[in-house]
Amino acid sequence: MTILVTGGAGFIGSNFVYYMLSKHPDDKILCVDKLTYAGNLETLDDAMKNDNFRFFKTDICDREGIYSIFKDEKPDIVVNFAAESHVDRSIDNPEIFLQTNILGTQVLMDACRKYGITRFHQVSTDEVYGDLPLDRPDLFFTEETPIHTSSPYSSSKAGADLLVLAYHRTYGLPVTISRCSNNYGPYHFPEKLIPLMIANALNDKPLPVYGKGENVRDWLYVEDHCKAIDLIIRNGKVGEVYNVGGHNEMKNIDIVKLICRKLGKPESLITYVTDRKGHDLRYAIDPAKIHNELGWEPETKFADGINKTIDWYLTHRQWWENIISGEYQSYYEKMYGNR
Ligand code: NAD
Ligand code: DAU
Repeated sequence: MTILVTGGAGFIGSNFVYYMLSKHPDDKILCVDKLTYAGNLETLDDAMKNDNFRFFKTDICDREGIYSIFKDEKPDIVVNFAAESHVDRSIDNPEIFLQTNILGTQVLMDACRKYGITRFHQVSTDEVYGDLPLDRPDLFFTEETPIHTSSPYSSSKAGADLLVLAYHRTYGLPVTISRCSNNYGPYHFPEKLIPLMIANALNDKPLPVYGKGENVRDWLYVEDHCKAIDLIIRNGKVGEVYNVGGHNEMKNIDIVKLICRKLGKPESLITYVTDRKGHDLRYAIDPAKIHNELGWEPETKFADGINKTIDWYLTHRQWWENIISGEYQSYYEKMYGNR
């Protein structure tokens, strides 16, 4: 089987590439990635040594380029991770989010219709459901929860989801969608909460917590997300949405304090900064459907996952130091300079 993975030079996409190459050694994995600021070819160094892997530096919005890959390579399954993924950047400049996340998804699905595939899988997010109140711990996002977005990022992901479902109903495209909660683990770009706090703490820099740090996220180790997607593309029902999450809710401030403790850094590094505009309060996934239908459950406990993650950042310092020494500096200054 040939599986085309878009966005495979990013955080979750690269973890998925490695998961698939080791779990399904008979499958061929093709990776399409534009290599934006978030894509890193170094991350795929080991994959490049595998004969079952091929990399294409292509924008998913480039119709001709995408059609040519489909024509030559004839993928059976497409898993679409490629996206602009950072909420703060979407607040600063929404346009590229609409282009890549919605129009890029359309180009991929048009290619799927033209050349034929057995499955198009859209990697979506729990953010399409908006947020839950902090004082109602009994409420969770199910697949029936109405779409109700807060940021340009989540709106672009919701737009893509609706288009994916429309391509199924209108053209019969065999699609599935997964909506996952916050991932953490190796190769996470240090603009996101956990890797940013690890990198700053290791460099004894301030740890910028938005608002009071009371917002809650539902954290899942990235490999558990990869396993869920692998199950869905093989056994999931066409036309269906699957929520993915591990019932592991934590306040941001507790995560940051935990990172300080693990790294032996003082909590005095924590700096409360101006809140994110439209900041979602709480995400919490009900994963009953994927558990009951496909037998998925998270295997990595947060206590183990965070230790593995911190160890990875300690042993791969060059990987993230290279990132934060480049154009990231001007991003950081713009986002945090006067906050
Ligand atoms: P990321 O920002 O780390 O990686 C995105 C990748 O997509 C990069 O390699 C980038 O170069 C590539 N890309 C961007 N625009 C492209 C384009 N036009 N054409 C081709 N490639 C392009 O993102 P991530 O955190 O790995 O997220 C991957 C997917 O999972 C996204 O669709 C995101 O919405 C979704 N998701 C993420 C999380 C999370 O916690 N990170 C949770 C749920 C869902
Ligand atoms: O829920 C899934 C989503 O999780 C994905 O769809 C997104 O692609 C992914 O980026 C992530 O979105 P969040 O906005 O939840 O992640 P982020 O790491 O940016 O922020 C997590 C929380 O930490 C959020 O409440 C904002 C807060 N935060 C973040 C940063 C970067 C801070 O307090 N300080 C920071 O410097």
